[in-house]
Amino acid sequence: MTIRSVVRGSGSALPRHAVSNAELAQRVDTTDEWITERTGIRNRYLADPDETTSTLAIAAARAALEAAGIDASRVDLIVLATATPDQTFPATATQVQHALGCHGGMAFDVAAVCSGFLYAMGVADSMLKTGMAKCAVVIGAETFSRILDWEDRGTCVLFGDGAGAIVLEAVDVDLADPLAPGIIATRLHADGRHNQLLYVDGGPSTTGTVGKLRMKGREVFRHAVVNLAEVLTEVLEAAGKTSADIDWVVPHQANARILDATARKLGLPPEKVVVTVHDHANTSAASVPLAFDTAVRDGRIKPGDLVMFEAMGGGFTWGASLVRV
Ligand code: UT7
Repeated sequence: MTIRSVVRGSGSALPRHAVSNAELAQRVDTTDEWITERTGIRNRYLADPDETTSTLAIAAARAALEAAGIDASRVDLIVLATATPDQTFPATATQVQHALGCHGGMAFDVAAVCSGFLYAMGVADSMLKTGMAKCAVVIGAETFSRILDWEDRGTCVLFGDGAGAIVLEAVDVDLADPLAPGIIATRLHADGRHNQLLYVDGGPSTTGTVGKLRMKGREVFRHAVVNLAEVLTEVLEAAGKTSADIDWVVPHQANARILDATARKLGLPPEKVVVTVHDHANTSAASVPLAFDTAVRDGRIKPGDLVMFEAMGGGFTWGASLVRV
């Protein structure tokens, strides 16, 4: 028997206000047609002042625990991926811990921007497998609307706010069983040479301000397709699987064209790719767990399915993880 991190449940949360492309076009020099054609985005949710990364994260974590049927008192690890924490410190994960009322275990944030959830899952998986923790809540939560330059139409139309979470539990599984549940293989990468293609022009140690998001979109796009295809192949090889074995791909939701291009490169039929970018836009670290929870709740992803998670973001950072749910 071997310990694996098994997904027990998922949850998500969105701000109360949906904003369509047409509504955005009233305050930004853009059109519904441009946004839809270039990105597939039709709608996004934007946080009101009383909605923060922590309030969204707490709601998503509670929903995931409820779906898992696990009491918060059993949670001994919270890993929260975000680039938009409520405060520079303490970690937003500690606010989630406080709200859940499960004190004494570990709680910290992970910063890997849009790949943050993959990194958080990888860290939690390692801790569960080595016995440092038994039950983890892994969250991706963001309020990117707070770091957008609303004068920059090339970026502000692309992002939205939200949160998603999964509950992972350390379980003894029989690896002789090909349907044994849990995280099978994960690969994570970073290449700091590309820092300046996607970044925020502020921070506590430089300007002392929060800063605004800056992106060279076309170059990010090009790298994304190449890096994602490579890491997906790497994970499939590590797991001894082929793309034909995959039931669902849950990609980072940045741009429908990136999702199509990556699926094509791997020979994956588009109907196996979970797409929520039209409704949520790019929610950075929240996008993968938000898309996963959406597809679990609408019945697409079922227990026993083989699911590939993947993401790429600022840094650059990127990664993928293959999971039997
Ligand atoms: O989450 C992290 C990963 N991020 C990504 O994966 C983002 C990757 N990049 C992309 O998704 C695409 O590059 C974008 C959607 C950001 C941009 O699409 P593009 O086809 O690369 O467009 P572009 O930036 O090269 O701009 C093309 C034209 C420009 O006009 P001219 O110079 O050709 O006259 C822009 O000024 O589109 C114009 N434009 C807009 N027009 C209307 C840029 N933004 C807008 C806008 N509305 N919102």
